[in-house]
Amino acid sequence: MIGIIGGTGLMGKQLCRHLSQQPELPLRIASRTPSQQQNECVQWSRIDLADGQGLGRFLQDVHQLVHLAWNQQPLVDIGGTWRLAYRAAQYQVQHLLYLSPAQPDLPFSGNRDNRKEAILLMRQSGVPLSVVESQPSFEALLRYCIQTAALPLWAIPNGKKIAPLPASQIAGSLATLLASGNPGQRVVLKGEEQLSLRQLVSLYRRKPNATSTAWESFLAGT
Ligand SMILES: NC(=O)c1ccc[n+]([C@@H]2O[C@H](COP(=O)([O-])OP(=O)(O)OC[C@H]3O[C@@H](n4cnc5c(N)ncnc54)[C@H](OP(=O)(O)O)[C@@H]3O)[C@@H](O)[C@H]2O)c1
Repeated sequence: MIGIIGGTGLMGKQLCRHLSQQPELPLRIASRTPSQQQNECVQWSRIDLADGQGLGRFLQDVHQLVHLAWNQQPLVDIGGTWRLAYRAAQYQVQHLLYLSPAQPDLPFSGNRDNRKEAILLMRQSGVPLSVVESQPSFEALLRYCIQTAALPLWAIPNGKKIAPLPASQIAGSLATLLASGNPGQRVVLKGEEQLSLRQLVSLYRRKPNATSTAWESFLAGT
């Protein structure tokens, strides 16, 4: 059984789509507000990492656990990750897979120290850990652009370059790692085209000097 914390989010949905094509890997998905139907391949549980209630029941028979609920609330990022990792050790989870932002200095990458601490706590739990460090997906960038579009100032550091990639590609790599069942991996993911955040924002606003093919074709398809 594969357990996913954060299975309703942007990356979680993509991962579930990939994994549901492999019915031999049944899923248990956690959400603070599970409303979806149970079926033979997918079970839903109500979990809030803020208190960790129900984690024991959730982790029963889970062999591989995916943590996609980091960078949510500062206290949950550390305390919630600690709860999750230590309960996972108690329930003898054999593989903990964590998706981490690859570039911690971007405005949507979360707190760098919290991320380091979360990884340390997961390692200290003794559950074999794999870390996938990924550049942001196009979808996450678009969400960021939409969220910040109304602000009078953009919280965009000048000159930062990123190499975004499709969310489905990130999820595909996570699914491949899970199918291999091999813990202890470190995988770094990035797209082919290097873009500055300023470039992305101006492309998002459809300014005439748009130059990026990858980002433009992504926006054209949305
Ligand atoms: N998106 C990307 O391109 C990208 C790239 C690199 C790394 N990452 C990392 O991948 C992870 C997922 O990113 P995302 O974009 O999919 O995030 P997202 O869309 O914001 O989804 C967050 C998920 O976390 C769950 N969650 C939030 N607070 C929770 C809590 N207190 N207890 C339990 N679950 C909670 C939410 O579930 P409910 O609301 O249903 O409870 C939701 O499924 C993040 O750690 C992010 O840093 C993402």
